[in-house]
Amino acid sequence: MTYALVIGASGGIGIAMTRLLLERGNRVITTVRGDNTKNNDHLKTLHEKYNAQIVSLKLDVTQQQSIETAFTEIQNLTDHLHLVINCTGLLHNGEGLQPEKRLEDVNADNLAGSFAVNATAPLLIARYALPLLRHKERSVLSNISARVGSISDNRMGGWYAYRAAKAAQNMITKTIAIELSRRSPNTICVGLHPGTVDTGLSQPFQKNLKPGQLTTPEQSAQYLYDVISGLKHNDSGKVFAWDGSEILP
Ligand SMILES: NC(=O)c1ccc[n+]([C@@H]2O[C@H](COP(=O)([O-])OP(=O)(O)OC[C@H]3O[C@@H](n4cnc5c(N)ncnc54)[C@H](OP(=O)(O)O)[C@@H]3O)[C@@H](O)[C@H]2O)c1
Repeated sequence: MTYALVIGASGGIGIAMTRLLLERGNRVITTVRGDNTKNNDHLKTLHEKYNAQIVSLKLDVTQQQSIETAFTEIQNLTDHLHLVINCTGLLHNGEGLQPEKRLEDVNADNLAGSFAVNATAPLLIARYALPLLRHKERSVLSNISARVGSISDNRMGGWYAYRAAKAAQNMITKTIAIELSRRSPNTICVGLHPGTVDTGLSQPFQKNLKPGQLTTPEQSAQYLYDVISGLKHNDSGKVFAWDGSEILP
């Protein structure tokens, strides 16, 4: 049995990943930023079904103290993790943060908000997760990234804050991988692009998709699980799409 940590289990991909990991017999620690399972029916259902296998904690990824506190609680539950998958992300928030179409839409607060969730959080999570990932067995530290964070793949423009923050996340992933190769050589650190997935994050942008382009969260979680399972040590620092192909920076 392996120990997995899913950060952002209230999200579409986060809850699907949590369910899949439980079905596969893993012990799963989840975090949500609200009050544990309160107001989250999907998570409550998983607790009822798998109660001894799942623990849920509170964690707001934009608050360093909250990350530190959650990891202290995790260390009281286990001294090692085999998988950390950070499923948090921010593209829009219904409170003025919308992906920018042009320069006039750019706003410093929105940029800072996007960077806090999409870039700073993965680095802070790595800081506090390291002691739990550093052990004799294989471990994976993964952040859900996005293809739009690839500079070489940027053909459409727009979405300044999200693109830049995900590109920064990818640089952070690479930099963490270099440090881990020295300090925690059994840990693989990667970014993962989940495809275009039917969640709250993509919902406002689904109108112009080609038929078949939209994936269910369950399908995406299965693809990502397969990618994670197949990762080799020399994959550390890279970003992979749902189908296992590498996304170049
Ligand atoms: N859906 C897609 O098509 C798509 C495509 C490419 C990449 N992605 C990436 O996939 C990942 C998962 O997104 P999703 O599609 O599952 O979207 P989602 O349903 O909107 O989930 C986003 C998750 O992030 C959490 N979150 C946001 N700010 C947080 C904070 N300050 N502290 C803790 N949690 C916070 C949300 O928590 P609350 O429930 O509390 O808001 C939610 O659990 C993201 O990194 C996203 O960028 C998605």
